[in-house]
Amino acid sequence: MEKIRIQGGHDFRLKGDVRISGSKNAALPALAAALLTGEPVTLRNIPLVKDVFSMLKLMRELGLESALQGTDLTLKVPRILSEEASYNLVKLMRASFLVLGPLLARFGKAIVAQPGGCAIGLRPVDLHIAGLQRLGANITLEHGYIKAEADRLQGADIRFEKKTVGGTEHLVMAATLARGETVLRNCAQEPEISNLCELLVKMGAKIEGIGEETIRVVGVDQLGGADHEIIPDRIETGTFLVAGALTRGDIRLTGTEPAHVPTTIDKLRYSGATIDVDGTDIRVQGSDEIRPQDVTTSPYPGFPTDMQAQFMALMTQAAGMSIITETIFDRRFQHVNELLRLGAVIEVIGDKAVVHGRTPLSGAEVTATDLRASASLILAGLIASGETIVNDVEHIDRGYERIEEKLRGLGARIERIRD
Ligand code: UD1
Repeated sequence: MEKIRIQGGHDFRLKGDVRISGSKNAALPALAAALLTGEPVTLRNIPLVKDVFSMLKLMRELGLESALQGTDLTLKVPRILSEEASYNLVKLMRASFLVLGPLLARFGKAIVAQPGGCAIGLRPVDLHIAGLQRLGANITLEHGYIKAEADRLQGADIRFEKKTVGGTEHLVMAATLARGETVLRNCAQEPEISNLCELLVKMGAKIEGIGEETIRVVGVDQLGGADHEIIPDRIETGTFLVAGALTRGDIRLTGTEPAHVPTTIDKLRYSGATIDVDGTDIRVQGSDEIRPQDVTTSPYPGFPTDMQAQFMALMTQAAGMSIITETIFDRRFQHVNELLRLGAVIEVIGDKAVVHGRTPLSGAEVTATDLRASASLILAGLIASGETIVNDVEHIDRGYERIEEKLRGLGARIERIRD
């Protein structure tokens, strides 16, 4: 079992430059999109994180041929070897469920394990399924597997009951090869969805309303290859911005997209940090006085649920009380108990966490329960006095590329150790 060991301290400040990797959440649906064509699809700026490798493993079982050179990945699915995505791979990562729609749209059949429980609460796929049924798929659930069949999907007018990132991505992909027009309403508007749509357009899809709440797709008979760049990771960006503010440091993030982190920048500025944007660089300078503030997670462009845990670590150092409300996922406060072990004072009441700052943190052994929770614990460890050990580090590797090396490059005393 690998762990992360941090030697932290209240006076520790991060300094220097850090390069932001490609977006995990944009790369995963882009990989699934390669199933829609027999031609090669090249994706650039791929993050070398565990979730990407899990998705490649699953897609290889389906017939994927792939070649990775640096961060450029070429994918080709000339024919299908199996239309079944097994539970032992789907359970590793929910986003792998996204192979269902593309398989169905191109080959007329798909069998994909129903994703199971998840560390951050109930995460159903009912909206994905209902949407695919509206596109004419015949869907049955047998022995934990979702079996979908359709001779050819048919365009439809579909309104999402609730904004869903994966659901929007799934239906846009499926609709590209459906007969006729599909109108998707109340779509999620995350930049990762737009990045996927731009890839699909390069592959020959007809999509209007990219980035808007209503997306129109006119189906085509087949899609072709494309060369596409994955956007920078806005959650890794936000995590390093919080790291700069929390350690009262002075760091510059390079290769990122400032336009994708509007609320995180606003919140950090309000908390007292100085943030300067210059093209694809963002410089953050932390302030000695951190102002408390309330944060409510909401769909893009609102404050991201994927930044909630990291922001909570920052608020433990604010001068006063902050209320953090989680509206996207239930049970997404599992980092709270671990932050308490480091000396934070936080109460959870329903979907709210009340953080009483400022409390000095003292290093301890803590256990990460999900990807963003582990990021929050690493951040807290930077300013906790003495040694912090973060267990179960495989969570962090799912979505952050070499986080300990990047932090070490900024002066942190952090290393990966083995039991
Ligand atoms: C994606 C991100 C994840 C992020 C989340 C919200 C990827 C790979 N993951 O997850 O990091 O935290 O968006 O920004 O991009 N819901 C239903 N039924 C459905 C689908 C979703 O009720 O069929 C609910 C979910 O339980 C949740 C809400 O809708 O309460 C939003 O979930 P969704 O946007 O679908 O999240 P993901 O796409 O799974």
